[in-house]
Amino acid sequence: MTEDRRTHTCGDLRLADAGRDVLLMGWAASVRDHGGCVFINLRDRYGITQIKADQTVAPEAFSLATGIKMESVVRVHGRVADRGSNRNPNLATGEIEIEAAFLEVLNPAKPVPFTIVDDVDASEVTRLNYRYLDLRRPVLAKNLILRSKVARLTREFLDAQGFLEIETPILCNPTPEGARDFLVPSRVHPGDFYALPQSPQTYKQILMVAGFDRYYQIARCFRDEDLRADRQPEFTQIDMEVSFATPELMYELIEGMLATIWKGVFDLDLQRPFPRMPYSEAMEKYGCDKPDLRFGMPMVTITDVVAASGFKVFADVAARDGVVTALRVPDAESFSRKDLDGLTKVATDNGAKGLAWFKIGAEEWSGSAAKFLNPEEKQAIRDRTGAGVGDLLLVVADDAGPARQALGAVRLKVGDRLGLREAGKWSFLWVENFPMFEWDAGENRPVAVHHPFTSCVPEDLDLLETQPLKMRARAYDVILNGTELGGGSIRIHRRDVQARVFKALGLTEEAAKTKFGFLLEAFEYGAPPHGGIALGLDRLIMLLTGASSIRDVIAFPKTTSATDLMTASPSAVDPGQLRDLHLEISKSSK
Ligand code: AMO
Ligand code: AMP
Repeated sequence: MTEDRRTHTCGDLRLADAGRDVLLMGWAASVRDHGGCVFINLRDRYGITQIKADQTVAPEAFSLATGIKMESVVRVHGRVADRGSNRNPNLATGEIEIEAAFLEVLNPAKPVPFTIVDDVDASEVTRLNYRYLDLRRPVLAKNLILRSKVARLTREFLDAQGFLEIETPILCNPTPEGARDFLVPSRVHPGDFYALPQSPQTYKQILMVAGFDRYYQIARCFRDEDLRADRQPEFTQIDMEVSFATPELMYELIEGMLATIWKGVFDLDLQRPFPRMPYSEAMEKYGCDKPDLRFGMPMVTITDVVAASGFKVFADVAARDGVVTALRVPDAESFSRKDLDGLTKVATDNGAKGLAWFKIGAEEWSGSAAKFLNPEEKQAIRDRTGAGVGDLLLVVADDAGPARQALGAVRLKVGDRLGLREAGKWSFLWVENFPMFEWDAGENRPVAVHHPFTSCVPEDLDLLETQPLKMRARAYDVILNGTELGGGSIRIHRRDVQARVFKALGLTEEAAKTKFGFLLEAFEYGAPPHGGIALGLDRLIMLLTGASSIRDVIAFPKTTSATDLMTASPSAVDPGQLRDLHLEISKSSK
């Protein structure tokens, strides 16, 4: 071997390679001394290969191997040998091992703070502090490898569809997506700030005016919002915009893109077209705008049926135009009192005042409020819900919003409990016909459900100044297994309409001009009708990999308190830097 270059990775070699001379480099994942023989599991991102250092065959290699510390970088030269009866079926390379002739430690490692294995026992804080060690764990490495593959499949698909990849600025003016902005002070313009983009929304619309009829970008977005399991302050979107778009065209493109990804990742053909559901139906039957349709079990409204009920809770809610909604669950007897208490807690944690439950027996109903219902009511409830003997009925009564939201959360819990939210089952859905606005009680004005650039169903435009909450938006979300994968809309492309919408949102003409004057003006120079969508890439990878935390699909994620533990950011800066930026930190904030 004249050149010091590895001949193979640690995932390459198979039985067919037996007898070959090879040079491998990697990390010592484990070192086992069997007396006279040391076995090293050599790991890189491709896999693990067993190295055998035998005292009688290669005494020097053997004595070196005995002292190798875990996670040291090792170079090994040797011959591929059949493991015969000692094969390891759990390793892709498990049929062979390398009989070491020469070993070298290229760089020894200090004792590592945790053992690098998939089912790691270290806390997440430790793992994030030593992210480079954490990322050596095969499970995390696999996630990032898959992420790279998905980005490639996305680019290939969109390129074939005539899309151009165009970058947009990171230092810009605020883009409203409903979160707080991250701000960057300007040194050159004292007292002025850039905002980091919450999305490339306005730029991609401007690109349409500029004639780039199919744009995409794998774009970084920044939102200073409260973090959850599937949210990060900086995250990545597959962001697209299309001139002369219709919802149908957008559905076709996204379904094609997702089908390409599923084919490339799982060799699976997705069923197309994806089903569609109006927003109102999603809310009524599933209590949210992103229903998990891996299982059915829709909620059923029974308000009218129990309006005259002897159960005061139901009758009172019906009388004040609230909603009584019911969930029919099979196999009531498998739900113990403790299970039902657990479900009640889910309901109350999600805003309900209580959860009424009824077990339908052959003779009698049992349950928390069964004694208040008369036989006619029971029959009417059974007719409406389709419930039969042996079923469990879970019921929430409240104002429409909280009642449905709470029972929707209970539905998901029941789905978990019955094993109906299966991994590996893919349930895509388009939710459409969103309302244009919702009422923000805090601000005492309507706010855009999607964003202020979304157009409405044309015949609803006349409601803008009188009944904005009745307007329907031309917006759509793509849902997978109960997660909002992406959202988009057909946009407003006329200045007069955009100005009216800004006004309806409580923006004065002056403020609209200051914030979005460039967009309003651009619309006066031949803006084509256009629309688009953005998919959360991190969430997509979470779903593809089954990761339970968004941090497991991002190389360098932030904690839930928005810090990067490895680099200890954010951090204080020099007083001199603050002076340059014309900033002072108030004493009370430190
Ligand atoms: P929206 O705000 O719905 O739309 O975002 C699109 C998708 O981005 C993902 N996402 C997030 N992922 C991780 N962390 C976050 N904090 C986060 N916030 C959003 C979700 C979401 O569906 N400009 C519009 C798109 C358009 O109209 O074209 C937009 O940003 O998966
Ligand atoms: P109470 O009369 O408050 O003891 O409630 C009797 C039963 O009705 C209990 O099982 C409660 O959980 C249930 N309940 C109370 N309020 C509601 C509500 N708003 N919707 C559904 N069930 C309720």
